[in-house]
Amino acid sequence: MGGKNPYIDQPDLQPPSGNYKINFQPMDVTVEVKPSELGKPPCGYPYSILHVALENGIDIDRACGGICACATCHVFVTQGFKAANEPTEAEEDALENAPGLRSTSRLACCCVPDGTCDLVVEIPNWNRNLARENPH
Ligand code: FES
Repeated sequence: MGGKNPYIDQPDLQPPSGNYKINFQPMDVTVEVKPSELGKPPCGYPYSILHVALENGIDIDRACGGICACATCHVFVTQGFKAANEPTEAEEDALENAPGLRSTSRLACCCVPDGTCDLVVEIPNWNRNLARENPH
């Protein structure tokens, strides 16, 4: 699933200005983000943390398919928070329903870093997809 939420305005987002890195915790995986080499996002905003994570094989729960409607992609941007876009009203509304809310909380599908510094992103244990069913 993916696409756009027809009930909320889409923000005017700019691609990151340059290459940067995201370190995903707690797995301590660092990925180099080269915005010009990112493909089409399978879901979430282009260049979002969710887009980067999925392109690098890091699975983050995304029950609504990245349209800012569920808050299951809740993450903590523990470093580089100021390099991210301003949250939209829709993101803030969705975050109000997220468990464990912190001042560094963002929705991975809506959070687009500007590329001016590296980030550290903590994925809460309830979002790590550790309990998937095995294929039958
Ligand atoms: Fe639903 Fe991000 S995936 S709000």
